[in-house]
Amino acid sequence: MILYIHYQKGTLLILLTVSLILLTSLTQAQTSSNNYALPPPMITGIPQGPSNNTYPNPEYARLVAYSLYFYEAQRSGKLPTNNRVSWRHDSALNDGQDVNLDLSGGYYDAGDYVKFTFPLSWTITTIAWGALEWNQGYQLANQTQYLMDMVKWGTDWFIKASSNTNSTEYQYLYVMVGNLNIDHNYFGPDTNIPTPRPSSKVDTSSHGTDAAAGVAAAFAASSILFQSNDSNYSNTLLTYAKNLYAFAETTPFTLYQNSAPLVKEGYSSTNYADELVWGALWLYRATNDTTYLNKAVNYFNSNSFSKKVFNWDEKSGGNYVLFAQLFQQSGQDSSRWKSLAEKYLDTIIKTSGGDCTFTDGGLFWCDGDSDDASLTVSLGAAFLSLVYSPIATSNTKSREYINFALSQIDYTLGKNPLNTPYVIGVHPNSPQNPHHAGAHGGSDMNNPPQTLNILYGGIVGGPDKGDDFSDSRSDYAHTEVAMDYNAAFQSLMAYQMINSHTDPYYVNVPPGIPKRRKISTGVIIAIVMLCLLLLIIAAVLFWKRKAIVDWWKRRRQTKSNGHYEYGSY
Ligand SMILES: *[C@@H]1O[C@H](CO)[C@@H](O)[C@H](O)[C@H]1NC(C)=O
Ligand SMILES: *[C@@H]1O[C@H](CO)[C@@H](O)[C@H](O)[C@H]1NC(C)=O
Ligand SMILES: *[C@@H]1O[C@H](CO)[C@@H](O)[C@H](O)[C@H]1NC(C)=O
Ligand SMILES: *[C@@H]1O[C@H](CO)[C@@H](O)[C@H](O)[C@H]1NC(C)=O
Ligand SMILES: *[C@@H]1O[C@H](CO)[C@@H](O)[C@H](O)[C@H]1NC(C)=O
Ligand SMILES: *[C@@H]1O[C@H](CO)[C@@H](O)[C@H](O)[C@H]1NC(C)=O
Repeated sequence: MILYIHYQKGTLLILLTVSLILLTSLTQAQTSSNNYALPPPMITGIPQGPSNNTYPNPEYARLVAYSLYFYEAQRSGKLPTNNRVSWRHDSALNDGQDVNLDLSGGYYDAGDYVKFTFPLSWTITTIAWGALEWNQGYQLANQTQYLMDMVKWGTDWFIKASSNTNSTEYQYLYVMVGNLNIDHNYFGPDTNIPTPRPSSKVDTSSHGTDAAAGVAAAFAASSILFQSNDSNYSNTLLTYAKNLYAFAETTPFTLYQNSAPLVKEGYSSTNYADELVWGALWLYRATNDTTYLNKAVNYFNSNSFSKKVFNWDEKSGGNYVLFAQLFQQSGQDSSRWKSLAEKYLDTIIKTSGGDCTFTDGGLFWCDGDSDDASLTVSLGAAFLSLVYSPIATSNTKSREYINFALSQIDYTLGKNPLNTPYVIGVHPNSPQNPHHAGAHGGSDMNNPPQTLNILYGGIVGGPDKGDDFSDSRSDYAHTEVAMDYNAAFQSLMAYQMINSHTDPYYVNVPPGIPKRRKISTGVIIAIVMLCLLLLIIAAVLFWKRKAIVDWWKRRRQTKSNGHYEYGSY
């Protein structure tokens, strides 16, 4: 009996120890505090005061404003006197000289100094779209002026980059300034940007259907935004939109990288049909001219679209939502488009298996597209869900789309396993080392080790599929910032400005990033197997306890009979 209990105790002890090790390694959440002190925000126009769930919410106003500040920090060319980004200077003033044009201005695409037209056109369109839906958000945040300036800085450059001639004349669109191979050998300030910076274009003899239609969409969407504000500018934008769309429709249809090979390493387009639909839809929204709506329907019907991601390359998700909006607005039967839009959104919010899924922490994730810049994928889907939600076919669906979007917003703002808001400059846990040459402020990537300028409002690429993130400047897949990464976010914050009656998630997150101990699945399986084995042994011992005790008694008896004289004392 005693022996049996000893066996049991031993087994229990081993089991307990193993379980303890397992448990602690899985759940250990020591916090590492850092001493990153947030400097006073040097940004004007933000309502001040404690947030405390007040409405309109000053913290959401800060997010609207910071994101616009991030865009200001991406400006290229001659800066205006009201420039707020002290570490930015007039730069790349000679852009376009190689082709006898003034192509200075516009925006640097990311943490580098190259300018790309095609992804910028999606950024401008998405921000203009969000501003048309949720204009009041910018007013509540006192940011309308900055919003208009942000869009205009882009459209002013598109004007410089496109010919604005009709299809009987020579047409062109510049799609890139700079060379990635030259630019990426340099990680320093904007005062010494390496040259040459070649200008790449598509034109009458080498087409770029996607790029031309994409910029036409940006012109058209912006022209609506400026209609009530500056009708002259709005009309100018619309003329450019029409001419560029006519250029996009010239055959043969061509992917723009085939005419401008330097863009290939950065932003190759996979399809042009989605942009032909997208451009026509935006022109219809800007003009009410049904010719454009018919074009959109025809291009839609004669092509197939299947991708889930809504981003700089892929507009089909946006097209479903726009079709549904525009048919409904003009009083036509929108049922076909609503059912397409809902089928699209439902595969996102109820996703299981396939290319797209949710991370354990709840981030919408699509293999391939999310590997770099996971948050763009998540926030793009959230944006479309919210734009569509008011016209959903039922209140239940509408609520589902809103809830999905809010979950992605919350994740981005800190409701994730690392308690990290992926917005720079809003919380001690925010990323501090974005892959951004200007913000870093040094002469090369590692010198100095710290980041000298805070790039307020920049959204970094984001976490990996395991919800992990390392705040490392060299890890550009996760820590770079870019024009398109902030586009959906910018609009979502305008939505929250209008709709949220609570603080953004990070407001109640204490400083300190939980350390997650990583154990490989192999180790976990081994430990579980070991526990099972020990349990089986314990069970067998328990089941056979009588036999074991009897056997031991017999053995003892034999032993004592053999070696000791029983009772010899
Ligand atoms: C709005 O912003 C302007 C600067 O753009 C500032 O002068 C003004 O005080 C702000 N108003 C409020 C209510 O914060
Ligand atoms: C926040 O608001 C609540 C409810 O209105 C109030 O009781 C509390 O004192 C406020 N806290 C701060 C720090 O202002
Ligand atoms: C194109 O523009 C030229 C010059 O502005 C004009 O003469 C011509 O009629 C236009 N053609 C079309 C098709 O709009
Ligand atoms: C255009 O918008 C800006 C910024 O909101 C404003 O200052 C200006 O007065 C507006 N102009 C017109 C004509 O509405
Ligand atoms: C209208 O806009 C164009 C292009 O921005 C500009 O050149 C022109 O001077 C403007 N005209 C007026 C009357 O403001
Ligand atoms: C187009 O029609 C809609 C709905 O009838 C209207 O709200 C909008 O102002 C019109 N847009 C233009 C540019 O005429």
